[in-house]
Amino acid sequence: EKAGHKHFMAKEIAEQPTVIGEALSYYLSGDGRRIVLPDPGLDFSAYDRVVMVACGTAYFACFAAKYWFEKVARLPVEIDVASEFRYREPPVSPRTLAIFVSQSGETADTLAALRYMKGKAATIASVVNVPESSIARESDVALPILAGVEVGVASTKAFSCQLTVLALLALEAARARGTINDAALDDHLTSLRTLPGIMTRALDLDETLNEVSQALSEATDVLFLGRGQMYPIAHEGALKLKEISYIHAEAYASGELKHGPIALIDAHMPVIVFAPHDALFEKTVSNMQEVMARGGKVLLVSDRVGLEIASEGVWRTVQMPEVPDFLAPIVYAIPAQLIAYHTAVAKGTDVDQPRNLAKSVTVE
Ligand code: M6R
Repeated sequence: EKAGHKHFMAKEIAEQPTVIGEALSYYLSGDGRRIVLPDPGLDFSAYDRVVMVACGTAYFACFAAKYWFEKVARLPVEIDVASEFRYREPPVSPRTLAIFVSQSGETADTLAALRYMKGKAATIASVVNVPESSIARESDVALPILAGVEVGVASTKAFSCQLTVLALLALEAARARGTINDAALDDHLTSLRTLPGIMTRALDLDETLNEVSQALSEATDVLFLGRGQMYPIAHEGALKLKEISYIHAEAYASGELKHGPIALIDAHMPVIVFAPHDALFEKTVSNMQEVMARGGKVLLVSDRVGLEIASEGVWRTVQMPEVPDFLAPIVYAIPAQLIAYHTAVAKGTDVDQPRNLAKSVTVE
């Protein structure tokens, strides 16, 4: 049942190229050039903003999607964790598209937030793994992520499938709103079709990440840094590490470092930096250098070009495959997951069933 893997989590991490491939074939037309949403679809002319609500890992998928929607569809996106959103009783304009993201589709706070939005938002959409779940049933449109059953309490393949579906949704919003031209959309769809292959190459880093994780397992605190669309992935990396290795981990936007957390830097706290060679790379590197100047040890996760520029003085490096910018959050989720996994295995924790956690949180 674990298909030769030691844990469900390892199996589910390894399945990502396959399940993402399935999600892509579900949402793309036969020729791969159009995005097809399940009935009754979404009318993007009816919205001028998006509100996305979820918990835990699903919330970090919303966080990553905010960057996509704002960038390509020019739609303002508000995100919140469901337990805050529902009690805040926020004002809702009628031209709002509300999106609820949940693997189980049964998370109590997310369901309550969805019910709060009924009759207020123009449309209630959900991005779910379990199609017969309460959240799917109570939405106007349920968008399946097609990850298959996820057993590990730490969500992995559901996260990357949520990201894939949300990326497609952002591109479809951009097309419908006319904020992207045909050539650019075509480029994005072409690169999305290469995603399973790139994910496979990222998974090939398993052994490298295992070695790094042996050293990380000695740490009591770990800091994750990222800028722009890598910031949500830093959060997801920190959550994964906390959940299964019980190591205290925190994520910061690289640029926030000097506003406080830099005081924590010493030789004992590894700092993991997610930084593909993109438009924000130089900025992230300068923050990373501030860490190193204070004796911090940095694990830099970047690509060939990024590492050529910035490896000097870095404690450890991980060389990721080249990724089109737009897709980087999905691919960089893999080292975030594998670092947590191998660190937890090195510590001997119960990876699939970590203490105090349940797979589905159906009480508030
Ligand atoms: O089933 P859901 O996606 O609604 O669950 C939300 C969170 O409880 C879940 O993502 C949790 O944070 C995971 N343990 C993360 O690995």
